[in-house]
Amino acid sequence: MKKGRVAVFLSGRGSNFVSITRAARAKGSNYTVRLVICDRPEAPGLEKAARMGIPAHFVDPGKFPGKFAYEASIRGLLEREGIELICLAGYMRLVGPVLLERYAGRILNIHPALLPSFPGLDAQARALRHGVKVSGCTVHFVDAGTDTGPIIAQQAVPVRDDDDEAALARRILRQEHRLYPWAISQFFAGRLQIRGRTVIIRKK
Ligand code: GAR
Repeated sequence: MKKGRVAVFLSGRGSNFVSITRAARAKGSNYTVRLVICDRPEAPGLEKAARMGIPAHFVDPGKFPGKFAYEASIRGLLEREGIELICLAGYMRLVGPVLLERYAGRILNIHPALLPSFPGLDAQARALRHGVKVSGCTVHFVDAGTDTGPIIAQQAVPVRDDDDEAALARRILRQEHRLYPWAISQFFAGRLQIRGRTVIIRKK
């Protein structure tokens, strides 16, 4: 079976990168992680990539005159590796036109809330402050907005009365680690079809 080729973009810890890569290495997986792109030199995810033997590139946004040049440089790395799908995993930067055009319909993101609630930063803390009883995570296609693209899958997680931000974030993260690899495998199985804002998941 020819496996789909994935690049993971991250800015921090990299736990989703690890779960995506572990799932890729499990028997019967239909994709492989070829590359990590990172915009922060101190990101622990870089070290995790090295340990897992995945080539990782720190691309310094400060070294380029603007987003266009920064993303054009990343696009070169992706094209060299024949990347078919970009997975944002804690990549704290908006994707711009260079990558959105080149990888139209082929960029995914995971967000630690049930979108469209609590897009952007500190989603878990804001959900807690709002007093929601249920939160969760969302995998979606990426468009030019902040966490606004068509939703592929969501997993709800209960919020407990004694939760603090860390406890809720941990409970959500456990579900992120299951949901994201599943969504990627659906993508490469050709089961995801975007119809306007709705993503249809075709059965086998
Ligand atoms: C994850 O919780 C992910 O959902 C979130 O950052 C964390 C990254 O963790 N992403 C966003 O908030 C994007 N808006 P990780 O580096 O351990 O995968």
